[in-house]
Amino acid sequence: MSDFIHHYEAGGTERPPLLLLHGTGGDEHDLVPLGRTLAPGAALLSPRGKVLENGMPRFFRRFGEGRFDVEDIKLRAAELAGFVEEARERYGIAQPIALGFSNGANIAAAMLLLAPEALAGAVLLRVMTPLVPDVLPDLAGKPVLMLSGSADPIVPADDAGRLASLLREASATVQHQVLPAGHGLTQADVNLSARWLAEAG
Ligand code: MLT
Repeated sequence: MSDFIHHYEAGGTERPPLLLLHGTGGDEHDLVPLGRTLAPGAALLSPRGKVLENGMPRFFRRFGEGRFDVEDIKLRAAELAGFVEEARERYGIAQPIALGFSNGANIAAAMLLLAPEALAGAVLLRVMTPLVPDVLPDLAGKPVLMLSGSADPIVPADDAGRLASLLREASATVQHQVLPAGHGLTQADVNLSARWLAEAG
């Protein structure tokens, strides 16, 4: 696990830990304040993406905006799932709920589809469909909140809907809302995520 730079904050056992996954150009500190606000008292595990795009950390390679390197996504999702497993042992924490923004939401969605044992559920903020797996996993009992922006210039309008359908087909419990927002987060994202996490946890 030493090969993921990460930030860890211990928390209580009353609610699941959060796995914080930042957007392109972020780092392990980016989502910590949001995580603290959304799930007070939860342990926070926050790795830094290892792929560099013009010096900006990400969680997988892409060929251009929205053009993903699917083979790299598969490798990186497995690698991140391995990190989560080792971190759970090292810190003695339960299966986390992912809280991912943009590129971080995309790798969280890939983990749900390819390595579902790593996550208890996920909050996916401004997510896209990272890939369509050959075989759908069984996501029964896994809650997923997806919040999209109706004016998001990065995520094509029907792309997140496609992911919601895929996750539902895999039996996840999906709540997908499209907010009057762009790619950036709004107060509505904060309020809805906090309420959802309080119920999910
Ligand atoms: C991605 O590359 O994962 C998405 O386009 C989101 C982003 O801009 O990072």
